[in-house]
Amino acid sequence: MASFFNTELSQQQFLDQYWQKKPLLIRQAFTDFVSPISPEELAGLACEEEIESRLIEEQGQDGKSWQVTCGPLSDDDFARLPETHWTMLVQDVDKHLPELQSLLEPFRFIPDWRRDDLMISYAPEFGTVGPHTDGYDVFLLQAMGERRWKIGEQPIREAKLVDGLGLQILAEFTPDQTWDLQPGDMLYLPPHFAHHGVALNDCMTFSFGFRAPTQVEMLDAVVNNLLEQQLGKAEYSDPDLLINKQSSEVDAQSVARLKQMLHQAIDDAEPILARVLGKIVTETKPSLAALATEAAIELEGIDEVTTLFEQGEILQRNPYFRFAWSVDATSGQLYMAGEVYEVDLQGVKYLSVLTEQAILTSSDWQEVLNNQSSALLLCQLIAEGGWFWSED
Ligand code: SIN
Ligand code: CO
Repeated sequence: MASFFNTELSQQQFLDQYWQKKPLLIRQAFTDFVSPISPEELAGLACEEEIESRLIEEQGQDGKSWQVTCGPLSDDDFARLPETHWTMLVQDVDKHLPELQSLLEPFRFIPDWRRDDLMISYAPEFGTVGPHTDGYDVFLLQAMGERRWKIGEQPIREAKLVDGLGLQILAEFTPDQTWDLQPGDMLYLPPHFAHHGVALNDCMTFSFGFRAPTQVEMLDAVVNNLLEQQLGKAEYSDPDLLINKQSSEVDAQSVARLKQMLHQAIDDAEPILARVLGKIVTETKPSLAALATEAAIELEGIDEVTTLFEQGEILQRNPYFRFAWSVDATSGQLYMAGEVYEVDLQGVKYLSVLTEQAILTSSDWQEVLNNQSSALLLCQLIAEGGWFWSED
């Protein structure tokens, strides 16, 4: 049974007892952890135009005065910073530095599509983003230095926030637990649990964030797919209509019929729900779209792919794209960047190869070639930049 980091728990026990339920502190989740990125390299990323970053400064001692500077950050921003009380945050570092992707591997017992990104923060002493809640599950790995985390033991849904900030800082926070985290220690928090981390010295924290679509996002996606496929056209009907005493009233029976009709629409949409989910969870974040499509190329087809492999090239999965797959009674579906692609039933066994592996070698290609629809699909994904060539 796969163990959950360095704990006595199995991965399934973690899911059963903690995931989406309660916080868990894991001492030495990553033993002898040394950050693969330095604060200077992180600052370099924060200065790049196409990389999402923020600087958060705490200005008074009252917990109410904060300044947020959105990236790209400049030398001037860094030059004016005080010695203490600030935090620099960089999003999607797993994609910008693909060598960090190996850090995601131990989390892959949770579906890939639930993962959002690896955000990395750097803070000198007293740096904090304030007490807050996030709508996401998060694993907070201490990567360098020490941070004191104070957390609440109950989720907060309706939080009172500090006014006028682009940050979700809680106006009031009474912690239940305090822990000092050393490099390699990790704190898991389910959504909506208040947390407040303060750097005790020069510190870096890696946040592995997981996301989940909301009801309205899913309903919107279902409606769009129904429209696309010309489904969901049944009209409201009321064969049980009774004489109406109040001729303008929207009465309770009408509302009940409407509710029934909407439930029916979702039931009827069942055959397309895997596609709806696959498409929505593989959409590319707008901030990453330009970087994702940079790898697109013109490709002749199967023979050219064979030649390139023969020349010693390998394929790398483009970290800026999201991939997923599903299978139904008649075909397999591969999702990339919010699009769906089909393979025949013989191709289903290659879907995980085309979506989950980090690299594809010549021997993977020999396998995929056994199924024409999968080989053609891989050609299409390469052309769109989902997989790109690199030297072995
Ligand atoms: C931080 O790294 O300072 C904040 C991370 C978080 O609270 O999500
Ligand atoms: Co947070």
